Parts: sequence; structure tokens; C-alpha cells
Amino acid sequence: MSGIPRKKLIEVALPLEAINIASALEKQPFTRRHPRSMHIWWARRPLAAARAVIFAQMVDDPSSHPDIFRTKKAQEKERQRLFKIIEDLVKWKNTTNEEVLERARAEIWQSWRSACADYVDHPRAKELFDRYKLPAFHDPFAGGGALPLEAQRLGLESYASDLNPVAVLINKAMIEIPPKFAGRPPVNPEASSKKELIAREWHGAHGLAEDVRHYGMWMRDEAEKRISHLYPKVEVTAEMAKDRPDLKPYIGKKLTVIAWIWARTVKSPNPAFAHVDVPLAGTFMLSTKAAKEAHVVPVIEGDTYRFTVEVGLPKDIDSAKNGTKLARANFRCLMSGSPISGDYIKAEGQAGRIGVKLMAVVAEGESGRVYLPPAPDMEVAAQAAKPMWKPDVEFFQHALGFRVGNYGMTKWSDLFTNRQLVALTTFSDLVQEARERVQFDANASCMTGGEKTLEDGGSGAVAYADAVAVYLAMATSRWTDLSNSLCSWNNTNQNVRALFSRQAVPMSWDFVELSPFSKVGSWFSMVESSVEASASLCANPAGHAHQANASAQNTSSGKIVSTDPPYYDNVGYADLSDFFYVWLRRSLGTLLPALFTTVAVPKAEELVATPDRHGGREQAENFFLEGMTQAMHCLTGLTHPAFPVTIYYAFKQAENDEIEGTASTGWETFLNAVIRSGFVITGTWPMRTEREARSRGIGSNALASSIILVCYPRSAEAATITRRELISALKVSLPEALENLQRGNIAPVDLAQAAIGPGMGVYTRFAKVLDASGQPVSVREALTLINQVLDETLAEQEGDFDADTRWAVAWFEQSGFEAGEYGVAETLSKAKNTSVAGMVGAKFLSSKSGKVRLLRPDELPADWDPATDPRLTAWEVVHQLIRVLEASGEGAAAELVAKLGSKAEPARELAYRLYTICERKKRAPQALSYNALVQSWPEIVRLAHEGGRPLVQPQVDLFGQER
Ligand SMILES: C[S@@+](CC[C@H](N)C(=O)[O-])C[C@H]1O[C@@H](n2cnc3c(N)ncnc32)[C@H](O)[C@@H]1O
Repeated sequence: MSGIPRKKLIEVALPLEAINIASALEKQPFTRRHPRSMHIWWARRPLAAARAVIFAQMVDDPSSHPDIFRTKKAQEKERQRLFKIIEDLVKWKNTTNEEVLERARAEIWQSWRSACADYVDHPRAKELFDRYKLPAFHDPFAGGGALPLEAQRLGLESYASDLNPVAVLINKAMIEIPPKFAGRPPVNPEASSKKELIAREWHGAHGLAEDVRHYGMWMRDEAEKRISHLYPKVEVTAEMAKDRPDLKPYIGKKLTVIAWIWARTVKSPNPAFAHVDVPLAGTFMLSTKAAKEAHVVPVIEGDTYRFTVEVGLPKDIDSAKNGTKLARANFRCLMSGSPISGDYIKAEGQAGRIGVKLMAVVAEGESGRVYLPPAPDMEVAAQAAKPMWKPDVEFFQHALGFRVGNYGMTKWSDLFTNRQLVALTTFSDLVQEARERVQFDANASCMTGGEKTLEDGGSGAVAYADAVAVYLAMATSRWTDLSNSLCSWNNTNQNVRALFSRQAVPMSWDFVELSPFSKVGSWFSMVESSVEASASLCANPAGHAHQANASAQNTSSGKIVSTDPPYYDNVGYADLSDFFYVWLRRSLGTLLPALFTTVAVPKAEELVATPDRHGGREQAENFFLEGMTQAMHCLTGLTHPAFPVTIYYAFKQAENDEIEGTASTGWETFLNAVIRSGFVITGTWPMRTEREARSRGIGSNALASSIILVCYPRSAEAATITRRELISALKVSLPEALENLQRGNIAPVDLAQAAIGPGMGVYTRFAKVLDASGQPVSVREALTLINQVLDETLAEQEGDFDADTRWAVAWFEQSGFEAGEYGVAETLSKAKNTSVAGMVGAKFLSSKSGKVRLLRPDELPADWDPATDPRLTAWEVVHQLIRVLEASGEGAAAELVAKLGSKAEPARELAYRLYTICERKKRAPQALSYNALVQSWPEIVRLAHEGGRPLVQPQVDLFGQER
């Protein structure tokens, strides 16, 4: 065999449910040690999905070794073995489990050796097929680095490139720096003086992490010396505690401030109060935690007002919850109640007349937060801050999701208070000073590796100091997300809400100023979480991160590629990341001059459809299509010939509803680009990370939060065919592909999308498909045709069912479990060669007063015994199984399957069919039941083989006897 790559697992089947579950779990905020703690990047792919995809893209499908796995059954068994490896691989707890990773790497090596044997005659065999060296990996749209990191974890030397310098920096921190300094002990003097640190072995990047922690602590202490006067403690006075029994224990004590909560103000539009700066407060609630409620109370005194703080529930909760806000950006004047329109606020903002007023102070108490009223000296302390530098860089006012420009905030520096600017500049500048200390200490500890900088590829003391500085600068940059005037107070969790919890820069009317030195959201907590996250990085093989435009790169040459390009107009990465870039440039500009050459992140080549940047919607779409086609074209010509390329496409939720099922503007534009660039698409796998969207998504396909395309370059000899020939080819290929997917136990919810892959495989394998008038068949039309053939194939499967079931499916399609006319039911029964009376006798149909209705699972006879049923139907089997599964679980369903024996098998196919109907008809609750049955099927069958009992360990008492 030479020149034709063996089919990879990802082209045939995937254990999607396991990948989805692991991906969703990983997304939970409580997942610790996640690399995302090092720095924000928007729309990161879950590591679990990235790991599974790269593995399945590198490992052969058993059907491509017919000499070893001769029968379909043997192939299926082998596939299940590979699935088990993936199922283990994706679990978060196994991220650094070497035993599990080694098993996966061994499979990759095995497929690699077989590829090397296949391609001995390849003209570039020596260079591309060295059986002792795995090919390297490249992701040209690396972003937050999930894919390059997982490729590295699976044993591939990894290359990450991105147009955006912030993304490149993140990738340096994730894949390039750790292997460079792996196994080295820390250089800080504390490490060489503390016994337990001297005795420790320094695996992976632990030594480096320890230095980041140490010099981070030094920076924190140093910053405290320089700017702690701006963050005075607050003394609790008897006056403050007069009506606040909760404050009595604190009288005379000085508490550390966690945060100051401010409201923006405008001059009242009511002429009677035109001299008063009234607050624009989105809420007065400080804490909504049960029994710990606290809120701000405005006290009006003549023609002025002040704020105080009360604990407990406010008298008028609704009013306290809404502050002075009416709706959207409209407020009311606190003094007069007059409305303050959004337009008035915008005009005031643009004239530079928006002010601020302190509403409350959050301090560290003995057991939790203490909420205090503002005192005049606190505003004075804030005003004392005089920034010596600020990022006076204008941002693009029409960037996607940017709203603040409407209110006169046009430069990045406008998003920070003076005190925040002073703190951030202090920490940014301390990065440089810390770096000098690291280099001094590294030299003192005789670190070898030469004098080159990190940017020049060095690995000695200079580069090491640069590396530590990178992590410290990233911690500072990450802190900006919590330390800007668009962060609001989260009164449910009682902490600060980061700006970039969304991919936007929205306005915040009341905002929080955090202290860098308290226990909550402090600057050093960023360092700590970064150090913690470094435990999930890799010590080898090498990683490389650099800046490159994906539309003009050649790094992919001879490499395995998996990539996650930007999605049309979903995220404006360049505009958003400037927020961080301006600070990173301050701290790292001289260390990594090539990366931070420009004043702001380069935008012209960024592949995002931003109408305001490209002169309109159509131009933006064209720009995206052309650029993406070019980027994909680079891949078709360059990547490793033995492996498919995998490409992620993420849906925006709204997109899914545009055209029912599978098509949408962004999706079609993207598919067009991939196809036009010369790729054949052989797989389209839906992957979910948002499990909570489950029931909402059914019927709209919104569940597919991203789709992985599996692609190969199209052959130069590809033929042109007609539309009719395309349909015939689909009819030949789709049934088998569908069968493989169903045997792989794909969830019905994913079937429609997954089956598009093989359909697209047929459509894209030809150079052109022409309709009767000689016009090319569009992607949209091809998708429609694929769906039609898919529906027909599923309907054909029905041919194998008994007559009653075929009747019931047709009736169900029409009426679900609702009643319909007897006459219609009877006529249909003639066509299906059965009778209404017979089915009523079979106890799954009711017929009364001229109306006929299918019985719901919970209405079916509970004493049903398949052994004595004289008219056993697949319909009953499915619905009885659902009844038992929902009432008593998999063990009970397994007992029923054991009784049914081979008669159970059609049930799964029927469940798929019924699911598809529910999906089309938007019957979400019923769809869930069918989906659940298919999902539980492997376990039910396994338990049935075990004799209908779940495999639980017998409980053993103290004396070792089974209970
Ligand atoms: C969807 S994100 C990648 C996310 C990444 N997979 C992760 O898990 O974090 C797409 C990336 O493409 C980058 N990008 C946009 N246009 C580019 C271009 N012309 N060349 C290279 N990268 C580009 C963006 O900066 C962004 O980081």
C-alpha cells in the first residue's frame, strides 16, 4: 500500500458522549490547575476534546487493517478498545496520568509505524516517514493553546502560531518555556537555603514555577512598600456601629479593605437639582446571601445625599435590587425621581462629565466580608493616586461587542481609575525589576545555557529570567481583568465579576476597585493560580510558539494539523486583546521586542468578519471567505500526507435557528472556504460543551456547540459529476456510514450532524457537481440532499420492522402520543397490513369514542412479559424499555433485555428513528427518552450479559462476609 492514507478512527466513529461529558466538566469553574488560569483567551476549546481529536486523527481505524481485523465484528471490537482509551484519556483527573497517556502514545506509535511501512516508496519518505520520529504538530490559529498543548502531551513536538501577540505569548508560556527549563531546580536564594527545598526533586516545570512564586512574592511585597498608602485600612468607629450590632466587635479595629464600590454619576437633568451629581447605580444590593444580606441605603438630606449601609433585607427589595436603574441604560434621578435617558447619559459621557461617588466599602471581617459605609477620607485616598503612565491608546469604537465608546471612553486608559492605573503600572514595572533579580540569582547559581535571550532561543540565565518575567507579566495582565472600572460586584457570591466573563467590553454603572493586597482577588492570587496551573503543562517534547498570519504560513509543512480558526464574527480577538496587550507591552516590550513591536495588536489580517472595519457586511463576509480559503489552502498543500487535518467550527447559538437542521450563514461560509481551498471533508463531528443547553437545543441543533471537520486534500484528478450522480453516490455511501455510526452508539442527538460528514465526503470528493442547467450545486443544496438521503435511509431501516411497528411509527410521526381520528388510523393500518383492533389487543394503543391514541411508556402494562406476548412488536420493546429504564434504571432494563434476547436488537434502531422524528417535530421531552435509551444501550447490554445485575462490588462486613 502506498500513497493512500489508511482510514483514521476519526473518519469512522468517536465516543462522543464521553468527550462531551469530560469537556463540559472541564469547563466548570471549579476545575483547578487548568492552564486557562494563566491568562484569559476567548472561546478556548476544552483540552479533553482537543486530546481526543488529535488521538483519533492519528490512530488507524480497525477497518483499515482488514488483514488483522477480518470481520465487521472484529473491527467493532477493536474500535471499542480504542474508545476505551479515549474514554480514559479525556477524564480531567487523567490529564497528567502517565500510565493512561502512555497507552495512548503507544497506539499513536503503532499506527505511525504502519504508515511508515506503507509509504516506503514515497518521494519524501526519508524526511516525512522516519519510523523512529513522530511527525510534529502545528496549529496555525493557536489562540489559548489547547490544541498544541494536547498534541505535546500525546508525544508530538508542537508548533503554535497565531497572528495575535497575546496568543503567542500564552502559547510560549504553555508549550515553549516549560520543556526548555524542565527538570531545573529554582534559582531563588530561598530555595538554596531551605532544607525541604534543597532536598526536593524538581520534575517538569516545578522549579520554574517555584521561582515564579518566589519572585511574585517579592513583587507583591515591593509593591506594598511603594503604593500601600493608596489602600488604607478602614477603622470601624462607634458612630459606624451605632445602628449596626454586627459592627460592635470591630469598634476601634482597623480592617483591611477588599474593595471599594463606586457608582458613576451625572448631573441631574431635573433643573431643580441640576447642581447635584446623581448616582447611576445598577443595584443597591451588596450581598444577597441568605442571612448575610447587606445593601446600600441612599439618605437624602436637603438638596444633597449620602450613602450608608444596612445589613438584613431591605424594606423594598425590588427598589434596592434595581438601584436607580429604570430599564436598559435609563436611570432615575435619586433626588427628584425624574427619568434620566440613555441619550442624556451618553451626551454627558461624551462631554467628559461622568463622575463617580463611593457607595460602600467591603472589608475583611473575622468570618467573611464586612460591608461599611463610605467615609470622606476614603475618597481622598483614591484621589491621591497620580498615575505616572497610562495606556493612552485609542481602541476601535465599533469593535464587536464594545459599548463603552458611547459614554466617552475611547482610550484603554479610560477604563481604569487613577488608583488602578498606578497599581497596574507599579506591578508592570516591577516585572522588569524582578527579572533583573532572577538573572542575578540564576548567574549566582551557575545556570548553564549561554547568554541568548528567550526571544533568540536561549536557555541560559538571561532566557530563564525572561521566562520568569513572562509568567509574572501574564499574572499582572490577568489581574487587569479584575482591576478595571468595568468590573461589578457580584452580590450573590460576594466577589468581583471579571470584565471578560463575556467576549465584550460592556458598560458597568457601578463598579468595584479591588485592593491588590487583600485576600480576595489580590494580585498575588493570580501568581498562585498560574503556578498551580503549570502542573498541567508538559515537560517534553519541545514546543515552539511564534507569530504568523495563517493565510501566508508554511510552518505546517509535513506536520499534523488540528486547528480552531476564528468563527466569522463571533469574537473580535484583536480588538479585545488590546486591553491586555497595552499592559503586557509595558512589562515585556523590551524583553520580547519582536512580539511587541506595534503599539496595538495587528488587526488588518485578522480573519474576523467585522462590518465596520471592512466597509459593510458583504465586504466583511468576502474578506473572511477569501482569507479563510487562503489559510485553508496553505494547509492543503503542506500538511503530512498520511493524516487528515481536523478543523473546528463553533456555532453561535443564534446561528442554529436560522435554517432548520444543519445550515447557517457562518457555517456555510466556512464550509465553502474549506471546500474551495481544495479539501475533501470526510467527517463532521458535533461536540458539545454546554450540557445545560440540552433540552433547549433539541430540534434546533443548538447542542452542537462546535463541529470538527475531518479533511484531506482533494486529488488533482477529481472528476466532475451531475446532481443525479451525486444522489446515487450518496445512496450508496450513506447507509453503511450510518450503520457504523449507529453501531458506534452515537447519540441520536448527534446522528444528523455526524452523518453529514460522510455525505460531505461524497460531495467534496468531486471537483464539481453540476445541476441540469450546468450550474454548480451549492453547499446549501448539497446539505439538503444529504439530509434527504439520510431521512430515506432511516425510513428504509423501518422496512425491517414488524407491521404494527411500521404503523405505529407512521402514526407517531403524525400525532405523537396525541389522539387522532379512528378512520385515519384504520386506513393507515390497511396500508401497513395490520389492524387497529389487533394493536389495541396488543396493549400499546387505545381506541375510544372514535379516537385512537398510542399509549405513553408510563401507561403500558407493568406486568408485560415478552415470553408470553403473542404479538411482540419492536414498538412495545422500545417503549417498555423506556418505561423500565425511567422507573427503575439500567439494571431493570437489562433484565428485560436478557428476557428479550435477540428480539431486543431492533429496539436501538427504532429509538434512533423515533428520536429523529421528535427532533424534526421539536418534541423535546420525548426525544430525551429515546436519546437516553440509546445512550444507556451499551451498559444495558453489558448488564444483560452479566445476568441483568449491575456490576457492584458485594458489600462486605467487618469479618469479610458478604452482606
Ligand atoms: C477560535 S480561536 C483559537 C482558540 C484556541 N483553539 C483555544 O483553544 O484557545 C482563533 C484564533 O485565530 C487567531 N487568528 C485570527 N486571524 C488570524 C490569522 N489571519 N492568522 C493567524 N491567526 C489568526 C485569533 O487571534 C484567535 O486566537
